[in-house]
Amino acid sequence: MDQFGSEVRAALTANRANWNSRVPVHVGPDGYRLDRLVADQTALSDVVDFDRRYLGDLTGQDVLHLQCHIGTDTISLARLGASVTGLDFSEAAIDVATDLTERCGAEAEFILGDVYRAPTLIERTFDLVYTGVGAIPWLPDIQAWASVVAEMLRPGGRFHMTEGHPMALVFADDATPEHLRIDYPYFEGRPAMRFEDSASYVGSGTVESPESFEWAHNMGAIVQALIDAGLIIDRLEEHRELAWPFLPWMEPVPDREGWYRLPESLRHSIPLMFTLQARKRT
Ligand SMILES: C[S@@+](CC[C@H](N)C(=O)[O-])C[C@H]1O[C@@H](n2cnc3c(N)ncnc32)[C@H](O)[C@@H]1O
Repeated sequence: MDQFGSEVRAALTANRANWNSRVPVHVGPDGYRLDRLVADQTALSDVVDFDRRYLGDLTGQDVLHLQCHIGTDTISLARLGASVTGLDFSEAAIDVATDLTERCGAEAEFILGDVYRAPTLIERTFDLVYTGVGAIPWLPDIQAWASVVAEMLRPGGRFHMTEGHPMALVFADDATPEHLRIDYPYFEGRPAMRFEDSASYVGSGTVESPESFEWAHNMGAIVQALIDAGLIIDRLEEHRELAWPFLPWMEPVPDREGWYRLPESLRHSIPLMFTLQARKRT
């Protein structure tokens, strides 16, 4: 945090207020389906269910979940056998995550704080650092983020991310399959994008602090930042499906509730999500 200028610090403060005010919307009507996780102690979040094919056996693994939000992915990682610590800078999200974990009969530790402060807040290293969808666009500095990931891993430890593909994030809000107008930058280095939106991506309530800021990170910048931080890249897969209806005209994936894809005419043209795995040298 302290490494940023006043403009970026103000943007991060606005983002924290924005995320705090999204939490009641996400736990309310049409939000994250929390009852499903509480009712069935084997249930997993959509994204961890997708990721489990890549994660392997997590039994006894010490996992750090960065930007854990209200804990749905964190609890799911715990249900795969991991001993998980979740970190997020939203007090409201950490409160819900703590309560939800108890209601789910799961175990996880939650730390309140900025991603960039993880090494100071958590003075130990992990077998796996995990980050899920919708995380890095909120971060101003991808190289500093990659250094945090590397620092939080023990030698030989693994990093896993599944994230919205930067290519899918460039389209204008009013783009249609026929007019795929581009409105947002693909490449790193542009000023923060400012949004004002009183609706969130799930939930039907009103977001009381609607202002937020996001930063573009192109695929090359993400991969290079992890390489520069000393990690070895083991996997980079691009996906045709996404875990949230990012563009309103996306089609639900048949038989996979909560997943969306592009209409057939575009399905093989644009990646929507990616999975990257890396490892720290022993
Ligand atoms: C879209 S959510 C991540 C969601 C998670 N994959 C899920 O679907 O539950 C983004 C999270 O990042 C957190 N966040 C954003 N910027 C952060 C920062 N600089 N440090 C820590 N957490 C941050 C927000 O509070 C929010 O909980």
